[in-house]
Amino acid sequence: MTIRAVAVGIGHYLPERVVPNSEFEATLDTSDEWIRTRSGIERRHFAADGETTSDLATYAARAALADAGLDINDIDTIIVATSTPDLTFPSVATMVQHKLGMQGGFGFDVQAVCAGFIYALTNANALIISGQVNRVLVIGAETFSRIMDWTDRSTCVLFGDGAGALILEAQTGKGTPQDRGILAVDLNSDGKYRDMLYVDGGVSTTGTSGKLRMMGNQLFRHAIEKLVATAETALAKAGLTDDDVDWIVPHQANIRIIKGTAKKMNVSMDHVIVTVQDHGNTSAASIPLALSIAVERGQIKRGELLVTEAIGGGLAWGAVVIRW
Ligand code: ACO
Repeated sequence: MTIRAVAVGIGHYLPERVVPNSEFEATLDTSDEWIRTRSGIERRHFAADGETTSDLATYAARAALADAGLDINDIDTIIVATSTPDLTFPSVATMVQHKLGMQGGFGFDVQAVCAGFIYALTNANALIISGQVNRVLVIGAETFSRIMDWTDRSTCVLFGDGAGALILEAQTGKGTPQDRGILAVDLNSDGKYRDMLYVDGGVSTTGTSGKLRMMGNQLFRHAIEKLVATAETALAKAGLTDDDVDWIVPHQANIRIIKGTAKKMNVSMDHVIVTVQDHGNTSAASIPLALSIAVERGQIKRGELLVTEAIGGGLAWGAVVIRW
């Protein structure tokens, strides 16, 4: 008998305001054509003034609870992956806990930038399989629009705001790759790449929240190679290979990275979830958003094998293999 962390509910939230690429043409030397062909992005959502990361996270959490048919007090733990919290502290997770009226349990945040949801899933899985908790609400939520330099065309056209939430529950499996739930995880980071993607402010340096800086083309070169390696390592840990994959659910940063990764894994694009055109890069929210939308569209079905992977600031990267 093996305890598995099994997905029992999923949901997402996107802020109302949709910003098409053409909106940037008024203020920047850029074009819809450049953004579409270089990144695959067509539009993104931006949070309204006063709408915070914990608001987005709370809406997504409510959708996931409704999907699972659960009440917030059926949940033991809330983990929020974010790099754009409402405040330096307390955690977004404890704010969500309060907004949802959760009476007990505990919540904490995980910060691994675009790989944040992968790290959060890994933490949730560890808590569940070690028998410490039964149900974890895992949320990815971001307001990256708040850390954009609106004069930097190489970054501000790429990111968006949003949130996705997944509920994992302890269930017993047989200990085989046919079990539902998280089958394997693989995490990596390498701090020597700090300058490739960072925010130029912080509590113990400038005392400000700062703006995002990215060497996009250098990062691009690392992305495909590291994403393929981590996805294949996670699959091998689960006793599986590329051939077993029903769906790749990639971090939605750039369609060229998504296609390049799928090609190296020999997985056809018909088996890759793509939402980047509609949301841009929503960092830690990107994977749960893509998952939720794919389930809503009827693409991902119960029992199918997913590998989800992401890379971001740190650099930090990783993958999770999950049978839906
Ligand atoms: N409009 C028009 N031209 C632009 C724009 C723009 N918005 N942005 C950059 N350019 C120009 C550049 O200035 C450059 O011009 P030059 O040749 O005259 O110097 C030219 O376009 C090419 O720029 P590159 O940066 O080489 O373009 P590239 O093809 O690499 O695409 C991109 C850029 C989309 C950023 C790509 O490199 C990428 O997606 N990188 C990876 C991003 C990523 O995965 N990040 C990780 C996750 S994010 C996180 O963790 C928060």
